[in-house]
Amino acid sequence: MQKPPLRHYLQFKDFTAAEYAEVFHRAEVIKNKFKSYEKYQPLVDRTLAMIFEKASTRTRVSFEAGMYQMGGSVVHLTTGDSQLGRAEPIEDSAKVISRMVDLVMIRTFGQDKIERFAAHSRVPVINGLTNEFHPCQILADLFTFIEHRGSIQGKVVAWVGDGNNMANTWLQAAELLGFTVHVSTPSGYEIDPSIAGIQNTHCYRVFKDPLEACAGAHLVTTDVWTSMGYEAENEARLSAFAKWCVNSEMMAQAQPNALFMHCLPAHRGEEVSAEVIDGPQSVVWDEAENRMHVQKALMEFLLLGSVKN
Ligand code: CP
Ligand code: NVA
Repeated sequence: MQKPPLRHYLQFKDFTAAEYAEVFHRAEVIKNKFKSYEKYQPLVDRTLAMIFEKASTRTRVSFEAGMYQMGGSVVHLTTGDSQLGRAEPIEDSAKVISRMVDLVMIRTFGQDKIERFAAHSRVPVINGLTNEFHPCQILADLFTFIEHRGSIQGKVVAWVGDGNNMANTWLQAAELLGFTVHVSTPSGYEIDPSIAGIQNTHCYRVFKDPLEACAGAHLVTTDVWTSMGYEAENEARLSAFAKWCVNSEMMAQAQPNALFMHCLPAHRGEEVSAEVIDGPQSVVWDEAENRMHVQKALMEFLLLGSVKN
């Protein structure tokens, strides 16, 4: 089998719209195989290294289970139990790890760290979350939207909360796939288009009032008020974000059939009320499950290129 050219998945905009169409199609095929207990093991003898410098439940389980289901295996490394935590240069770690495995997934702090790793890696590197981006999550969120409502092109996504890694990645997706993000954050926590890495100011609109951001939205989504790595700001954030809790009043502003999403973990009573996240418009459990299906398609794409079966 011919090896596809080396590609990394470090930001959402690393793939084209046509490539996303292919990945979403493969995710659907692969999910259907999984649901009908049809064995699909194109990655026998392939190894994924997963490097976690921050905590995880979904990312770890979805990549690990997904890789085993596809016939491969995984190596799990954390800062504390590897030389990464003892100041071995990231470039040296990349050179060594990528000689022994076929694929690397990294969850870390600054985007610069994953960029440096990728620059010295012989194998594809996947961003499993950085301070700036969370592309695998948006991949799952878009796939979930498409499953429930069809194409997202031309639709409105309301982002209520922190101008964080999830918000930045939604902006990149909107620019690439042709939808609009209505963003409402408390002052001091705004999105920064230069950090998000977008050129097109038409793909988002900023609202002071979160209720206005939700008006007419096809999807309302939020995230924790305090992301990993920002714990020292927790007290200040609790008071700054008090008005940015997605509740029934906000959902009532959106389209009557609007979906609610949250990448999880969630804090009921902070960024979302229990009645919304546990209510009929919420698709958070599908969203979490779909992490595994889309990432299987992503790993297949990076390791095998276009697959037709
Ligand atoms: N949504 C998400 O990435 O979850 P984990 O932090 O549990 O991996
Ligand atoms: N914005 C959150 C997402 C967690 C999956 C964080 O970075 O902690």
